[in-house]
Amino acid sequence: MDDIAPKVAERGLLRVMTCGSVDDGKSTLIGRLLHDTKMILDDQLSSLTRDSVKHGTTGEDIDFALLLDGLEAEREQGITIDVAYRFATTPQRRFIIADCPGHEQYTRNMATAASTSDVAIVLIDARKGVLTQTRRHSFILSLMSIRHVILAVNKMDLMGFDAALFERIVGDYRQAAASAGFKSITPIPLSARFGDNMIEKSPNTPWFRGEPLLAVLENIEVEDDTRDLPFRMPVQWVNRPNLNFRGFSGTIATGRVRPGDTIEVAGSGIASKVARIVTFDGDVAEAIAGDAVTITLEDEIDASRGNVLADAEHPPLASDKFAAHMIWLTDAPMMAGRDYLFKIGTRVLPGTITRIRHRIDVNTREKLHADTLVLNDVAKVHLSLSHPVGFEPYATSRDLGGFIVIDRQTNGTVAVGMIDNELSRASNIVWHKLDVTRAARAAQKGQKPAVLWFTGLSGSGKSTIANLVEKRLFAMGRHTYLLDGDNVRHGLNRDLGFSESDRVENIRRVGEVAALFADAGLITIVSFISPYRSERDAARERVGEHEFIEVFVDTPIDECRRRDPKGLYVKADAGQIPNFTGISAPYEAPENAEIHLKTVEADATVMAEKVVVYLRDRGLIG
Ligand code: ADX
Repeated sequence: MDDIAPKVAERGLLRVMTCGSVDDGKSTLIGRLLHDTKMILDDQLSSLTRDSVKHGTTGEDIDFALLLDGLEAEREQGITIDVAYRFATTPQRRFIIADCPGHEQYTRNMATAASTSDVAIVLIDARKGVLTQTRRHSFILSLMSIRHVILAVNKMDLMGFDAALFERIVGDYRQAAASAGFKSITPIPLSARFGDNMIEKSPNTPWFRGEPLLAVLENIEVEDDTRDLPFRMPVQWVNRPNLNFRGFSGTIATGRVRPGDTIEVAGSGIASKVARIVTFDGDVAEAIAGDAVTITLEDEIDASRGNVLADAEHPPLASDKFAAHMIWLTDAPMMAGRDYLFKIGTRVLPGTITRIRHRIDVNTREKLHADTLVLNDVAKVHLSLSHPVGFEPYATSRDLGGFIVIDRQTNGTVAVGMIDNELSRASNIVWHKLDVTRAARAAQKGQKPAVLWFTGLSGSGKSTIANLVEKRLFAMGRHTYLLDGDNVRHGLNRDLGFSESDRVENIRRVGEVAALFADAGLITIVSFISPYRSERDAARERVGEHEFIEVFVDTPIDECRRRDPKGLYVKADAGQIPNFTGISAPYEAPENAEIHLKTVEADATVMAEKVVVYLRDRGLIG
């Protein structure tokens, strides 16, 4: 291995992914590639020979597909699930090969593999030509900014190595991929099973002027144009081992940097000069995209994890509103207006998907209307983040334009996204500072504003208790307003129904209104089922922790059903009201409500009194 090391280093690592299905011979292709380049360990090979006899579909020959379809269950099913990464080295180059399944239900796996690959091998079965699946794969590749495609037209042995057929398939593919933005498409006529044009040029295709697959992989140039862009580095952490040293550590996303360069913290306009560039091997005179470094500056400037250090003369755009493409990765559907966490570069910040512009059919690229997104959906969306971030479009830099979306309740990754552009119209909206302040408005009314947020099942008694509380406060000379679900749904939220996404939007709007009313100095009482913890938490954040008081009106569903003030439970039980909370739609009870009212213990007047006492104890009313 030692003697090949320098050569390997020259070409660098190539990250390859494969697109195709088992039927196209994908696993056979990778298996043969690894085997014929002597990348398989001997004991693996002997077990393969045994397995071929047991499960194989190729008679006495070694079934290379078995090498890859690792798990027993998968072998028996004959499909590959999930992404498998394999490491291979030849005297020319090092490779990471991502093998992922090609069926539509694995769109997310393919997107994951594509997000870290330089080149994709697109497999086509010569008997079938360009299929819907081929178009879908190419769409995902273009979405994830893959620039180089190797078009492996496989099973040419079954088609008599017909040159005209090969040319026709290549033509069809070029046409299908015309809008994908690939920089290179390298077609190869192959037989993965018999090894034609895999490692050596095949005598069966004398008409083919190109290189065999291995040579293409070893020689393909995936020139890294990120190096020629202006310098940007997301700060991973601030390295401060002692008082004399303060460095910003991270991996350079684009461009290059030298001591003496003027750089700034993107979005802040604060600039300084690079003093040192420290690496594992000591100080260096220059670092480029992909290098992990620690940068020290001549001045003490304030930057922290998530900030982007950038060329001061060519700083990146900073925005908090974006148009982006997104792939939904999880079973729980996407909710427009819900508060999620967004990780962009090294920064994690709250935000919402404000709108789905359209969903895209991955097979036809047709733009479709959508209210929500489910597993494997691809869509164009609008995002709104809590703060501006320095970014580049994904097509320019995967590091600065790619993001993941995290569910705040489960901490799971629910989507990957690619920023297309900032929404300049939205980011041109600036907050207008008013002369009459929030404090002045409250002082004029001689009170402390608050939001009393009542949540509970339909028929739990929310509105009855809220109404009594308002009456008490009003009688005390307090300035109040009561926002009631049924009432607000007559006007502001008339356009919303009871689907999950409509409810998220219902609560988002009423949270905003409550925050404005509190800003106006009012004691605002909100009475909505508000079934989701996420949206109640978002309202709390919007209003402000110290002014938000969650009141859980805790009435067991059987008691609500017994009371049934509007006759809705009778209908819901008869299946006449879809998505009825507690019956056919969820209710997520509060875990830490400030006030917990168990309504079966006493009547509504007693409950209302508890709320008033709480306000008094907190010093919110005199
Ligand atoms: S929320 O879930 O979006 O917060 P909201 O409080 O605005 O609900 O409205 C709930 C009221 O709408 C209920 O009190 C009931 O009168 C009525 N309603 C109509 N359909 C439904 C339904 N499917 N689920 C719950 N309430 C419903």
